[in-house]
Amino acid sequence: MRLWVSLTLLTALLPAGLSFALTTAKAPDDLTKVRASYRRPDSIPFPSSNPYSEAKSALGEMLFFDPLLSRSKTHSCASCHNPSLSWADGLPRAIGEDPKGLPLRAPTLIDVAFTEPLGWDGKFKDLESVAFGPIEAPANMNLPRAELVARLSAIPGYVDAFSHAFGDSAITPPRIEAALATFERSIVAGEAPFDRWIKGDETAISTSAKQGFELFNGKARCASCHNGPSFTDGSFQDIGVAKGHDIGRGVFFPTSVKLRYAFKTPTLRDVARRGPYMHDGSVGTLEQVVELYNKGGIDRPSRSPDIKPLSLTASEKNDLIAFLHTLTASPETPKVPTLPR
Ligand code: HEC
Ligand code: HEC
Repeated sequence: MRLWVSLTLLTALLPAGLSFALTTAKAPDDLTKVRASYRRPDSIPFPSSNPYSEAKSALGEMLFFDPLLSRSKTHSCASCHNPSLSWADGLPRAIGEDPKGLPLRAPTLIDVAFTEPLGWDGKFKDLESVAFGPIEAPANMNLPRAELVARLSAIPGYVDAFSHAFGDSAITPPRIEAALATFERSIVAGEAPFDRWIKGDETAISTSAKQGFELFNGKARCASCHNGPSFTDGSFQDIGVAKGHDIGRGVFFPTSVKLRYAFKTPTLRDVARRGPYMHDGSVGTLEQVVELYNKGGIDRPSRSPDIKPLSLTASEKNDLIAFLHTLTASPETPKVPTLPR
């Protein structure tokens, strides 16, 4: 069961201060319905087992930005999911406490409330179950949960914040998970030129970008996976890019041909700001991404039937890229909390 909390209620807490005009798109073309399917929702789903509260979200925000969550006290969640970098880190592979780095690129946290299960291979069923993954992983933050509880319990400001959020001062791993997840659900896409266009402002994006949107939903078949307000259906697919040992979702379904090399379809919100791309950071630019789709990637039994050579012209490629650029929200200065000490 999910409880939807209105975005207007959350506006003060949101990174990108959303506001919704309730105008309907009045484009006369057949794409009107398609356009409407990309409209950002006006509320966020919270599970009834972990409902929204302002105090819990505020505590989750402090935990998220606090380097105390790593053994050496140098890495916070925000080191890799940095609000100034669209909640990612701009690196091909994330680097935690082990300087050799992690095998995967840090995904953005934009719209994570809408895109469970999580992780490139879907290993996390919900946001609550993610938290101690990075905290305890030796190469990531490398901090045992008992040590984290001891660190937080020694800081009166945290004891107060837990009391405020949960009614008593017990600091426990499930409460840490609940608070972090509540904060993360509030990380939603800000309004981009694309959103102004689908609300009816024909001048918000260029003619080339509009043609790109048509290609995205038509000839280029992008929308068969990247659809809805977050530009992902949350599915796991082999787009013919993965090489090497990591077989993605296939690890959990060893007999499935289709899930071999299948990784999660990422959101395309803010995508122009988040290169390099893919689970392994192996594709540098949006131009290279479009080139990859145009060629159709590695042809193998696991590759999705929607991935095949597209025969896009040079101007069609430019249109698609122009469209992807319209998904970047207007810049806002991210708000970060003062941490208790
Ligand atoms: C060293 C960099 C690093 C740090 C620090 C880090 N993460 Fe991540 N995060 C990653 C990587 C890499 C992945 C992809 C993991 C996977 O797919 O298995 C990820 C995945 C996630 C996801 C899944 C997102 C999705 O769309 O699938 C969430 C949620 C998340 N991290 C939250 C957190 C939280 C909360 C913290 C702090 C407790 C944290 N991360 C700390 C690098 C990091
Ligand atoms: C069959 C489903 C599918 C189709 C069709 C598809 N994608 Fe993807 N897309 C994915 C998956 C899955 C990934 C992640 C693959 C990986 O990490 O190995 C991805 C990754 C991306 C990325 C990188 C995002 C990031 O944060 O790393 C971009 C950009 C992108 N796709 C754009 C497009 C465009 C443009 C099209 C149409 C030309 C398209 N996609 C068609 C499933 C699809």
